[in-house]
Amino acid sequence: MLIKKPLSLTDNDVTPKDDFDKSRTIISSSRRRFLAQSSSLMLAGGLAPSTLWAGNKIENYVSSQFSIKEKPTPYEYVTTYNNFYEFGTAKGDPAVRAHLLKTKPWSVTVEGEVGKPGVYDLEDILKRQQLEERIYRLRCVEAWSMVVPWIGFSLAELIKQMEPTSKAKYVEFTTLYDPEQMPGQKSRTLKWPYVEGLRMDEAMNPLTLMATGLYGEEMPNQNGAPLRLIVPWKYGFKSIKSIVKIRFTEHMPKTSWNESAKHEYGFYANVNPQVPHPRWSQSRERVIGAPLFTPKRDTELFNGYGEQVAHLYKGMNLRQFF
Ligand code: MTE
Repeated sequence: MLIKKPLSLTDNDVTPKDDFDKSRTIISSSRRRFLAQSSSLMLAGGLAPSTLWAGNKIENYVSSQFSIKEKPTPYEYVTTYNNFYEFGTAKGDPAVRAHLLKTKPWSVTVEGEVGKPGVYDLEDILKRQQLEERIYRLRCVEAWSMVVPWIGFSLAELIKQMEPTSKAKYVEFTTLYDPEQMPGQKSRTLKWPYVEGLRMDEAMNPLTLMATGLYGEEMPNQNGAPLRLIVPWKYGFKSIKSIVKIRFTEHMPKTSWNESAKHEYGFYANVNPQVPHPRWSQSRERVIGAPLFTPKRDTELFNGYGEQVAHLYKGMNLRQFF
């Protein structure tokens, strides 16, 4: 993954979420373009823009028992410091360009080793799910992290409804491929479309979330609208965005980062401070949005979720299966 010099953002540079809510208006496309341009300049100058996104509120979600008790990263860092290479490789690119993505209507193709294959309208999928707010830390492989109040539903519930066959050992996820909407796909940073995968027991773990929003609102495009995966005990690259296909397979799927550099990005990608990336340590992480000079925090094994997930890897050599 390309490593950029860290931005020196501080808490003082951003608008608190409540003030943001009070002042926000629906952003027209020309205003969004203006904001997008100023946002690149501000990000380049180390400042977060005061307003970028005005998503619809999500109603009817409950809070989750799985939430961590930590203060979420300010909204504007979560929505302006992103990895979404389909819109460019700089952290500010997705916030600038992701308005190009049309997220409604949206359908998800379900195929492979499954009893109910088909092309499902996302609206129909959502009618059958219980939405929850889950405050999870997202630990990126690039050694930074954020705490985000995601909204979404349990992937396990969706999988049960799709009735996988006994041959389904893995689940593969694919992002939309459309270089007109996702201009980053015109360059060869990765082999497109972006693909990720989980072993079936990882996909069925109650922590695994299909997210449709954050901070009480529909997912901003730059964070992976309208539907993305969140696997909180794995490095962020497993949490694939803007999913259009879910395939159940007998064999381990070929995943984008693993295919591009298999010695650097393993299929499992479990957060593990003891297993360094070949080019940098994973023992500590920079907390995005923390005041300047805040020390890095120690990275936790499985990102702190060992109790819920360590059993999935019992007997496995985590250095070999990184
Ligand atoms: N999904 C797609 N389709 N394309 C990407 O480039 N980047 C991944 C992941 N999902 C990525 C993706 C990486 S490296 C990280 S750290 C997280 O998204 C970042 O999510 P965020 O921008 O919401 O913080």
